[in-house]
Amino acid sequence: MNNNKISLTGIKPTGIPHIGNYFGAIKPALELVNDYNPFYFIADYHALNIIKNKQDMKKLCYNLAATWLACGLDPEKVVFYKQSMVPETFELEVILSAFTPKGLMNRAHAYKAKVDSNKNSGKDPDDGVNIGLFTYPVLMAADILLFDTDLVPVGKDQVQHIEMATDIAQSINYNYQKDLFKIPKPLIQKETQLVIGLDGRKMSKSYNNVIPLFLPENQLRKLIMRIVTNSQTVEEPKNPDESNIFSLYKLFATPEEIEDLKNQYLKGGMGWGYAKNILFEKINSHFKPMREKYNELISDKKYIDKILLEGSEKARYIASKKMRKLRRALGVTN
Ligand code: ADP
Ligand code: TRP
Repeated sequence: MNNNKISLTGIKPTGIPHIGNYFGAIKPALELVNDYNPFYFIADYHALNIIKNKQDMKKLCYNLAATWLACGLDPEKVVFYKQSMVPETFELEVILSAFTPKGLMNRAHAYKAKVDSNKNSGKDPDDGVNIGLFTYPVLMAADILLFDTDLVPVGKDQVQHIEMATDIAQSINYNYQKDLFKIPKPLIQKETQLVIGLDGRKMSKSYNNVIPLFLPENQLRKLIMRIVTNSQTVEEPKNPDESNIFSLYKLFATPEEIEDLKNQYLKGGMGWGYAKNILFEKINSHFKPMREKYNELISDKKYIDKILLEGSEKARYIASKKMRKLRRALGVTN
């Protein structure tokens, strides 16, 4: 059943996709595919704020496209595209900018964090801040509002951006006394909204604590062995709720398996090496079929190009209709 509602999400090609991206965005997005009209894309112009090398940009875009496809994205069902291939997005960004108070952008987490860290290290507050970073939320609002999105599957860190898209949409709707934009809602899943990394902090490319999705088996094993634990001995009973291993295990295991491992923690007699091994087996078997698919896809760049071109054509058809309607509503065209 399709309720004719739109789901939309984007991921920036700024690094190797990891299991935080998978559980926070990719998996929930793919679960919506039969009930929504899905629009999923590669946010390459968002990534341009970070990736300034041509070869890196190309490679990261292919990696991310192959990742979505390997995780099960069906291009027959999903409008799958690269943001840069839908230029209507950038015209809309200009329009939205005219309705976005600077103060709203001052409050954006990513910008604020950068300014705070500059201040703390005695630098100019705007050191290393380009306008692209400052107006990041406006571009993201354009991505979302262009397609009259109902639902945006994302991790918790993106909620503020969706609230900003809502604020901007509402002020335009109010100004023209017309529902020009649909108000989007985030879809956040309680269990996977914040996947922790090897060191217990949020798994993030910026913290260098990620478990990439499709690492070769031996490298994956080595990485899992690096998960930070405390210094308790094998004999000691352990608290599963304070363990990074357990918290990752919960993402993959069935309720019975979770209960079973929990009991082993509480009983004592289980060493960290053993728990890491169990986790490795789970992650490895979960991603093995996808990894094989990924390795096939990544060597077929022509196929990926074709999928993204077809997706962007579908997206542009809808986006250009929306833009014509908007231009008329603003009075810039008849
Ligand atoms: P990163 O923080 O590694 O740079 P991105 O900002 O590119 O990741 O995130 C892409 C998507 O994946 C977003 O929807 C984001 O909320 C989600 N995401 C990223 N890291 C996590 C995480 N640790 N837990 C849950 N979701 C995450
Ligand atoms: N800002 C998102 C991130 O950092 C990526 C993104 C860009 C996005 N445009 C979007 C997510 C639109 C959802 C909807 O991960």
